[in-house]
Amino acid sequence: MEKKKHSSGWGTGFAVGIVATVLAAIAAAMIVVYTGAYNVAANDDHTSMVRWAFETTMYNSVQARADDIEVPQDIGDASAGAADYKAMCQHCHAGPGVKRAAWANGMLPLPPHLTKHASEWEPDEIFWLVKNGVKMSAMPAFGAHGDDQKLWNIVAFVKQLPGMTAEEYAAVEGSSHAAKH
Ligand code: HEC
Repeated sequence: MEKKKHSSGWGTGFAVGIVATVLAAIAAAMIVVYTGAYNVAANDDHTSMVRWAFETTMYNSVQARADDIEVPQDIGDASAGAADYKAMCQHCHAGPGVKRAAWANGMLPLPPHLTKHASEWEPDEIFWLVKNGVKMSAMPAFGAHGDDQKLWNIVAFVKQLPGMTAEEYAAVEGSSHAAKH
């Protein structure tokens, strides 16, 4: 009688090993999900590796998606965008001579000072960010709060922030409470 071949033995063991590893990983993930072992506190930052991965993903994601957006020739009406910036953005992103609201200091990631950081982004990227927001951060999507023209006006104003003095910023028309105080 012919002997049974066992050439598939190694392959079977390998497959069983993979399945067991996958099941163990799923079980570990479920334990984290169900036991509350993961700390969701806003004041508990990610490890530097995870933070780096989020920031790099965010930057590349915005850049890739903004590519298809056509920037209007004059971007927008910056003076019309000033009031909206002061009402909708300043409490998180500050402005020349104006700090972010105290409660906004409790966010991680902190909303960057756009007076400094606006120069790092192209107008189409700022438009995309304002319209769509950023997942898993406190950056809201404003797409539902106005038409594209209103958003382009804000973008035009944001692009002027890096070169603006505190006096110029205070002088531009603003409808927010901050402007009245
Ligand atoms: C409730 C707070 C909050 C408000 C209001 C807000 N943002 Fe943000 N924004 C954030 C946070 C937090 C980030 C950082 C997101 C990240 O790094 O993942 C951010 C990121 C950004 C960025 C990218 C900056 C950078 O260098 O990473 C731009 C541009 C921006 N916001 C523009 C605006 C504009 C314009 C408005 C108003 C229409 C606005 N934001 C309103 C919290 C806010």
